Amino acid sequence: LENGLARTPPMGWLAWERFRCNTDCVNDPEHCISEHLFKTMADLVVSEGYRNVGYEYINIDDCWLARERDRRGRLQPDPIRFPSGIKALADYIHSKGLKFGIYEDYGNFTCAGYPGILGHLETDAQTFAEWDVDYIKLDGCYSHPKDMDRGYPEFGYFLNITGRPMLYSCSWPYYQLVSGMQVNYTLISEHCNLWRNFDDIQDSWDSVTRTIDYYGDNQDRIVPHAGPGHWNDPDMVLIIGNFGLSYEQCRVQMGMWAIMAAPLLMSVDLRTIKPDYKAILQNRDVIAVDQDPLGIQGKRIFKVVFLSEIVLERHPRFSAVSSKLVADHNNDKGIEIWARPVTPIRSNRFSYAIAFLNRRVDGTPTEVSVTLQEMGLDNPAGYAIRDLFERRDLGVLTPPQRLKVDVNPSGIVLLRCELQESRGFFGNNLDGSS
Ligand code: GLA
Repeated sequence: LENGLARTPPMGWLAWERFRCNTDCVNDPEHCISEHLFKTMADLVVSEGYRNVGYEYINIDDCWLARERDRRGRLQPDPIRFPSGIKALADYIHSKGLKFGIYEDYGNFTCAGYPGILGHLETDAQTFAEWDVDYIKLDGCYSHPKDMDRGYPEFGYFLNITGRPMLYSCSWPYYQLVSGMQVNYTLISEHCNLWRNFDDIQDSWDSVTRTIDYYGDNQDRIVPHAGPGHWNDPDMVLIIGNFGLSYEQCRVQMGMWAIMAAPLLMSVDLRTIKPDYKAILQNRDVIAVDQDPLGIQGKRIFKVVFLSEIVLERHPRFSAVSSKLVADHNNDKGIEIWARPVTPIRSNRFSYAIAFLNRRVDGTPTEVSVTLQEMGLDNPAGYAIRDLFERRDLGVLTPPQRLKVDVNPSGIVLLRCELQESRGFFGNNLDGSS
């Protein structure tokens, strides 16, 4: 959607995965969905340095509404849990230099059963604008997926005519996919800043890997639609720092979401997150990959499926992949390589973020040995290589040179391979002249 917003994938904090539909503020006042929770998290996003590295939106998800609309048919928050009202909450969040997101549903009810938007599209768009909302996630429970090709653009029209720029996150393709419909991504990317393609993330490694597999397996259909202003959303929520993922697995989610140009919305209790996990969320090098201005979503370029059968993922250069790499991964869940073109570019060549993802869970790190050329990195002057999680520079390698990395079980090595300039006469880029 060309509304000037989401030129890079949105970053922030979202309540849903960690805090769910906890409405029990009597017994659990510190964890229930309430204005107190969002103000507390906004405070911490600033004081703990998250805002400084790019986290910007504080987003409400489901379960903020009262059970009924008001007498004039307008949305209203639960009066006990949001006693100051939504506008006051938005003001508070804005006063912190942050932006404010809200949740509604293109249906008769939200997924958790609160009032949906159907029959009130124009009124609700106006209400959100009056409340100074910056971001709207429009879910799709309790509606007919075939109505969505008309309905999501219609609500987008009403958002647009309010005159307030509001980032528009759509669950449109997800509900169509699960109902077996063909999804029109061209239409969706014209009308939404981001869109959910896959299942809700849960707090588990299984959920993270299923999401990664979905994007790898469907990449030719999905990836081309991502770009500045319009992004795929593999469930934006980062579960890093919660209960279900190991330290290595948290690096995987952060690194892979960056490769996939995904929104980065933390869903963790920022009061209790441990320093190691906070460091993953605040890794500027990894965030820079996610936020790369080219906005090209990465792809899986290598995966071993069966003993001796390599899936080349449409990458011709992988025909030359080393036999060692294959031999080491003679099971069905070995090393995958993902690549995302990033800046700087020169003479039609990209720099790359490269992820080596180890899907094995047995004991020992796996050595990957591959030349840059085999991964399609063919700039004659080579690439300066940096390990983004270890924060270590590995020097400049040229295409025929071999890269060796150890990848931990259910772990990742994320590299940035930055294009080096060929030295030519009079400062020209004469590729191949070095
Ligand atoms: C759906 C969405 C989730 C969350 C819940 C809230 O399941 O996919 O992201 O918003 O609804 O009820």
